[in-house]
Amino acid sequence: MTEPFTVAIDGPAAAGKGTISRAVADHFGFAHLDTGLLYRAVGARMLDGVDPVTAAMALQANDLQARDLRTAEVAQAASKVAVIPEVRAALIDFQRAFARRAGGAVLDGRDIGTVICPQAEAKLFVTASVEVRAQRRYQELVDKGTVTSFETVLADVKARDARDSGRVTAPMTAAQDAILIDTSELSIEQAVATAIAAVKDCH
Ligand code: DC
Repeated sequence: MTEPFTVAIDGPAAAGKGTISRAVADHFGFAHLDTGLLYRAVGARMLDGVDPVTAAMALQANDLQARDLRTAEVAQAASKVAVIPEVRAALIDFQRAFARRAGGAVLDGRDIGTVICPQAEAKLFVTASVEVRAQRRYQELVDKGTVTSFETVLADVKARDARDSGRVTAPMTAAQDAILIDTSELSIEQAVATAIAAVKDCH
């Protein structure tokens, strides 16, 4: 397929968006952009003392690989810079161009179906209970050797949920026409199969 075809996948932290997005992209042969990485890269620059708006305007593709952006500290910083309208505005053109590339694209984030690509051919909102999400994130951190507690991770996830859905500009919310997938009780295989079937229905 050479026509653009956009799959927008939104939802809160640790709901399974990343895994599902990669699997959907692989299945259909689409390119994948984890838009959270853009905000994480800007958040990491802010932790270095750089003004976040300046950092967003100067963002380069290699900033996304330059360091470990998957830490809890960078996640919170990402959620903080994501509240700033000028940061969000600076990242729009890149995301929209990626979405309309020939051959299809999957973008995952918080505002893809609502703000970045309201015309996306397929929209999914992937969620899970806050306890299940915190447990998954806790396990990921433990597997990486990070010393933390479940309570700390749960509090972090709750703080990020509140900030991401409470902000004025592009708050996290499901588009009216998004297909909801609750992964709380699903295995990875079941969640992936549900998402692929939903995208096929829009194809
Ligand atoms: O998906 P993630 O956990 O890597 O995202 C990190 C933060 O970036 C998230 O807490 C909010 C922000 N974000 C956003 O505001 N909009 C997006 N499209 C993606 C991420």
